[in-house]
Amino acid sequence: MESLIALVNKIQRACTALGDHGEGSSLPTLWDSLPAIAVVGGQSSGKSSVLESVVGKDFLPRGAGIVTRRPLVLQLHRIDEGKEYAEFMHLPKKKFTDFGIFLVLEELMLLIFPETACTAVRQEISDETDRETGRSSKVISTVPIHLSIFSPNVVNLTLVDLPGLTKVAVDGQPESIVQDIENMVRSFIEKPNCIILAISPANQDLATSDAIKISREVDPKGDRTFGVLTKIDLMDQGTNAVDILEGRGYKLRYPWVGVVNRSQADINKSVDMIAARRRERDYFQTSPEYRHLTDRMGSEYLGKMLSKHLEVVIKSRIPGLQSLITKTISELETELSRLGKPVAADAGGKLYMIMEICRAFDQTFKEHLDGTRSGGEKI
Ligand code: GDP
Ligand code: NA
Ligand code: MG
Repeated sequence: MESLIALVNKIQRACTALGDHGEGSSLPTLWDSLPAIAVVGGQSSGKSSVLESVVGKDFLPRGAGIVTRRPLVLQLHRIDEGKEYAEFMHLPKKKFTDFGIFLVLEELMLLIFPETACTAVRQEISDETDRETGRSSKVISTVPIHLSIFSPNVVNLTLVDLPGLTKVAVDGQPESIVQDIENMVRSFIEKPNCIILAISPANQDLATSDAIKISREVDPKGDRTFGVLTKIDLMDQGTNAVDILEGRGYKLRYPWVGVVNRSQADINKSVDMIAARRRERDYFQTSPEYRHLTDRMGSEYLGKMLSKHLEVVIKSRIPGLQSLITKTISELETELSRLGKPVAADAGGKLYMIMEICRAFDQTFKEHLDGTRSGGEKI
């Protein structure tokens, strides 16, 4: 199953590359039918922290205000061994390997690492954002940045980090910004293939949760919404989240997962991910009110659950995807023969690449289906 998800990751990137160059064909449809996980919620609800926990790496800009001004489509590829690295789609030849300190929140980075404030990946995200939006920190763009991480320490997932939903325009922003962000977020999560990670902070009333509001709107039955409750450690003394976590506060189709991310103070002290996870586990294990829920709480559990869910979704879509792939291959063949020779190196090369990937994909489907027929895994 691993290889199937890896192929999904690959094909998603290839399709986007083609889409960027404005070619026709049914590829957007194909892209839309593949699964992804997007993180939604209000500003500073803990979205980036949750994503980082799932990844197990400090790599995202976090902080107050609109740090993320373009969607970040992040693909995690599990590799069996070797040194982990990151790669941007717009810089395919360049490998980024310095994960250690990069991309703590923009403002804070300057405090913690005054000399090394700009490590390569963080700098590239920032530069690439500016290329699209101009230098203004107020402007947002709906054009995603694609970043892939290859590592033995991740599960295969595609994640989308989105700017936080806000209620008011601040200081010099156009009035339209609130609506612009909401529209952008909606454009990602309204796709039926999008698994929604709805992030709500436990120290705010769930009734005011932006995440719940917008996800309920696009997914009224909750078929693809996972509720994540952050900041459980920041709740008022004498209150707890047990009712919500046990599904009595606001019932979702899938059970709520509670997490304890690193606090601002932890970030200031550079508490690392491993220590943070250990502490998170301890937190649930040693709290009398949460002890009975320990097995299904925390970031690690969330990551595993998402990976499993993704597999289920992909398996259920195999027949539909397969016919779409077949259709795509024949369309690509038509397109290539129409272009004839010599084809423009760039456009032609991309088409060939995508067709190759489609064929590999098709093959995997077939093998998988054969396995099923001969009494293997059930779809
Ligand atoms: P985003 O704006 O939704 O992406 O939120 P961030 O992940 O940037 O988090 C905003 C702030 O809340 C940061 O200072 C985090 O350290 C802090 N934070 C996030 N989750 C938790 C949590 O579970 N517990 C505590 N104590 N702080 C958290
Ligand atoms: Na923020
Ligand atoms: Mg964020």
